Amino acid sequence: MMTRIISPSILAADFGHLADDINMLNDSEAQWIHIDVMDGVFVPNISFGFPAIEAVRPLTAKPLDVHLMIVDPDRYIARWAETGADVLTVQAEACVHLHRTLQTIHAAGMRAGVALNPATPLSAVEEVLDDLDMVLLMTVNPGFGAQKFILHSFDKIRRLRAMIDRRGLQTLIQVDGGVTLDNAAELYAAGVDVLVAGNTVFASENPAETIHKLLTVR
Ligand code: DX5
Ligand code: ZN
Repeated sequence: MMTRIISPSILAADFGHLADDINMLNDSEAQWIHIDVMDGVFVPNISFGFPAIEAVRPLTAKPLDVHLMIVDPDRYIARWAETGADVLTVQAEACVHLHRTLQTIHAAGMRAGVALNPATPLSAVEEVLDDLDMVLLMTVNPGFGAQKFILHSFDKIRRLRAMIDRRGLQTLIQVDGGVTLDNAAELYAAGVDVLVAGNTVFASENPAETIHKLLTVR
């Protein structure tokens, strides 16, 4: 059976009671915690940075899945490791020397992911597929939560899954943006391993139960 990992995005959490929401995630079946870092340049929004992650780190033993929507991410790789990031994902569109960036992430002791915007072709990761642990396919245009899932993403997911399987790699496929209880089963069937979910989890009546449903949906 394929890997199934749920990584709730705390961009949709209640920042006034962030510790409570982290504790809820600790008690839930979510395996990772997704943290969206936005710089207001790569995306038209500003979220949070080092102080927020340094505040979250001691509250949970679960892996922090840090998604960098920032320009020139090479500047801060060692600093993200210091804050306690476990998985560090950079946007391919923001990296001039992607192979070197992935080497630097691994040298800093983190798992390396590369995110592709909806319009960015899979060929952007073809040459470095052996050097990364995860490909994040954005299924919305990055910068905001609670957006609608871009339907033609399914075809891109299937092509990426075929590319990875053809090369016998263990690379994880993560999708991010507009994931719901209605499209989760089809996402797994298309070959996804890791579901990021923000609004679906934190806007639901019972977030822990929603996470359970996302993990077990058939
Ligand atoms: C958007 C972020 C996503 C977002 C997901 O740029 O990368 O992680 O928070 O939120 P939902 O699941 O609500 O679309
Ligand atoms: Zn994200």
